[in-house]
Amino acid sequence: MIEIKKNYDLTKLNTFGISAWAKFFVELNDEKDLEELFLSPEFKNNQKLFLGGGSNILFTKNFDGIVILNKLKGIEILEVPTKVPTRVGTQVGKNFVFIRAMGGEIWHDLVTFAVNKDYWGIENLSFIPGTVGAAPIQNIGAYGAELKDILENVEAYEIKTGQKKIFKNKECEFGYRDSIFKNKFKGEYFIAAVVLKLSKMEKKNINYKILREYLEKPARNAFSIADAGGNKIVEYTPKIISDAVMAIRKSKLPDPVLIGNAGSFFKNVFVDKEKLQDLLQKYPNVPYFEEENGSKENGSKASVLVKISAAWLIEKCGWKGRRIGNVGVHEKQALVLVNYGGATGGEIKNLSEQIIASVRSKFGLKLEREVNLI
Ligand code: EPU
Repeated sequence: MIEIKKNYDLTKLNTFGISAWAKFFVELNDEKDLEELFLSPEFKNNQKLFLGGGSNILFTKNFDGIVILNKLKGIEILEVPTKVPTRVGTQVGKNFVFIRAMGGEIWHDLVTFAVNKDYWGIENLSFIPGTVGAAPIQNIGAYGAELKDILENVEAYEIKTGQKKIFKNKECEFGYRDSIFKNKFKGEYFIAAVVLKLSKMEKKNINYKILREYLEKPARNAFSIADAGGNKIVEYTPKIISDAVMAIRKSKLPDPVLIGNAGSFFKNVFVDKEKLQDLLQKYPNVPYFEEENGSKENGSKASVLVKISAAWLIEKCGWKGRRIGNVGVHEKQALVLVNYGGATGGEIKNLSEQIIASVRSKFGLKLEREVNLI
């Protein structure tokens, strides 16, 4: 049974804490209720907005349609190989485990579930706000890992037909903070569940500089296992890495419960090697990362792109820590815009436009928003 409410306050359902109203609102607690929802006139005759944790959205106006809050719950370990349609060439066996999680689960609860069982692959993605169902849409990523590295498939419903479809990893067309669900199929599918493939064998990934340095400076870390020789961690576990990621995130990113924000407001910027050389001549310290993600589709050497730190660009334009009325740029991470209380979505949008304009005029680079604007 579903209950569609009218004129619903969304303030507590977006981590920016922006006041906005939905014409209709419904909470989805059971996959079986989707049919009833899809057939309801409020759903059929209105624009739709599927909401998870509300941690990547900025309301600049009320939503004149129906908001569907995904509250589908459940995390299970799948028997292999019978229940999982695996990718071609996937090795199933004792080294891997498949976990199916419903879209309304809190992402970090899924991380905790896996980390506590010593499964590898998800630990770098600790403490990312939001829900499981939202994770594939923007291919969440942090500390050198991305969802696409561990995602087996996505279970989604086509809104037009109500048909369930399984998207295999490759079919999701994942890119940096990008997927088919943001492009070709934008607004066309509802994500009900994901299946992850995690490793039971050690598969640590601590190449990300900030994470590696944190782990290798044991004096700062209560959880370090000191050995007699080097005083460094001798045996990593997913939990050790997860704890480190959480500590780093907590030290830089504001807690949305205390101060409204949506994590990184902008994406890092891809440039070609030529533009990088230009930048390096003027600014030898510009932080950049060469990534697999950066190569264009044809993979030719000439088209390899490099990711430039947008936080650095914003900081160099003098925005870090600046406050304008109710809104501002976080003092510890320049990619994060904050609501100090009582801000409208318009004020945040306005600030973001000023930042985009200064980065364009100083560096000739175009910042793109990571956050979705409504
Ligand atoms: N930096 C600055 N100024 C700042 C912050 C960072 O110059 O205010 C530079 C530093 O050189 C630093 C480098 O940027 O070494 C990288 O900083 P950080 O590790 O904080 O990563 P980021 O590239 O700014 C991305 C993600 C974050 C994710 C971190 C860690 C995007 C848009 N953001 O930020 O994701 O937590 O990497 O992997 O890719 C999010 O998406 O909401 C988010 C928080």
